[in-house]
Parts: sequence; C-alpha cells; structure tokens
Amino acid sequence: MSDQPIIHLRGVFKTYEDGRLRALDDVDVDIEAGEFVAIVGPSGCGKSTLLNMIAALDRPDEGTIEVAGHDLTGRRDLDHFRREDVGLVFQLDNLLPTLTATENVEVAMFGRIGPRRRRRQRGLELLDLVGLADRAAERPPKLSGGERQRVAIARALANEAPIILADEPTGRLDSHTGAQVMDLLERLQREQGVTLVVVSHDPSVSSRADRILHMLDGRITTDVPVGDDDLATTPASTG
Ligand SMILES: Nc1ncnc2c1ncn2[C@@H]1O[C@H](COP(=O)(O)OP(=O)(O)OP(=O)(O)O)[C@@H](O)[C@H]1O
Ligand SMILES: [Mg+2]
Repeated sequence: MSDQPIIHLRGVFKTYEDGRLRALDDVDVDIEAGEFVAIVGPSGCGKSTLLNMIAALDRPDEGTIEVAGHDLTGRRDLDHFRREDVGLVFQLDNLLPTLTATENVEVAMFGRIGPRRRRRQRGLELLDLVGLADRAAERPPKLSGGERQRVAIARALANEAPIILADEPTGRLDSHTGAQVMDLLERLQREQGVTLVVVSHDPSVSSRADRILHMLDGRITTDVPVGDDDLATTPASTG
C-alpha cells in the first residue's frame, strides 16, 4: 500500500432527484496515508456526499472509489470495510443516551473484540486517550458537548481504523471546545499516523490541515497545500 494513495476517487458522479441535482460532478481526488485533508465549501456543495462515499455509506452513480485497498464500487458486502477501515465522527455525536461513555465506545467493538472484559479495558484506554478517564461511567446527557464529541472520537478509534472521517466535528461546539477536539484529532494524525479527512466551515479547523479541497456545485475547484493557498493554487482537474 506504500505508494498507493489510501483514498482514490476517479470520475465520481452522484445525482439526486432523478438526475436533476448533481451532488458530485466528476470528482477526482487522491489522499495519501497519514495526510490531514480539509474539505470546505458552501452549504449544499457536496461535502457530506463526498465523505459518505469514502465511508461506503453511499454509492456513486459512476466512477471509481478505492479506499484502504478496497474497491468500494465493485463490491456488495461492505460491512467488513465499514467496521474495520474507517472511523466516523459527525456534527452530532450520535451517542446512545442510555449507555455510559465506556459502553458507547465498546459498542463499536462488538463482534471484533471479545470477551467483554477486553472490550471494557480497551474502552477505558480510549477514553483515557481522549482525556475522559474520569467520565467513563457517565451517560451522554450528563456530558458537555465537547466531552460527548470526545467520546465519539474514542468510539471512532475503537476499531483501529487507519482513516478517520469527520463531518463538521466542531460544528456544535464553542471555539475553545472545538479547538480542544481538533487538537485531539490532530494528535491522532501526527502520533498514530491516522489519515484524517475533515469537512468544516470553520477556517480555524481547515487551516490546521496539510491540504484544503475547495468544493463548489459538486466539484473540487481547488486543491491546495495549506500555507500557500493565496499563491500557486493548483487547479483540480475539471474534465
Ligand atoms: N439523500 C438526498 N436526497 C436528495 N438530495 C440530497 C440528498 N443528500 C444530499 N442531497 C443534495 O445534494 C447536494 C449536496 O448535499 P451535501 O449534503 O453533500 O452538501 P454539504 O456540502 O455537505 O452541505 P452542508 O454544508 O449544508 O452540510 C445538496 O443540494 C443536497 O440538497
Ligand atoms: Mg454536510
């Protein structure tokens, strides 16, 4: 896998409304293992659709998608891929309110790590990693927004996926808490070599990335390394 991009899309189209709405319009993108890529653009431009394609939560109408060595377009059984290869973080944490923080993390290990005692131990380790060891027995309604989002990140890490996909992970957080959540995601990328793809409207999030993909009307309009986005913009191939 070394010189193969971990995420590879070619000619990806996705339409809704019987083809009248082009959510993705001929998207090409390569993301290398260990990169931190931000996806930005106005509401409705196709950011979540693109992320969902990479997560195999949705299928393109046309095109090729290969992620972590799997051809997502050619396969029917993607459960294994979804379980093993990607960790997802959403704007809303989607935690189960009746389970404790640890139990929410353990849920992601069912069928993969057993016995229960090992899942519990790993759940506690992950909560410790996100700075929540002392909140492990608490249920989500009693946690702050930032704490809940950190539990969601711990859950996304539970399967040791090489790729973390996050859709507006700081969207509901105040700027200080959002920065803490981003510090955590960035640390995972730097220290554990996780490939990180984050959709965000927030420039304080995208400016941390190695690269920013700008989207408009279902297309990637520019693909720029952070630091020189005012100069030397590399136009993405627009077909
Ligand atoms: N399931 C669906 N059915 C119909 N249209 C959809 C569906 N999902 C997305 N769309 C449309 O596809 C386009 C892209 O949507 P998408 O959710 O990817 O945008 P986005 O860039 O994530 O926007 P936002 O920043 O508001 O989250 C929009 O016009 C949206 O209305
Ligand atoms: Mg979206």
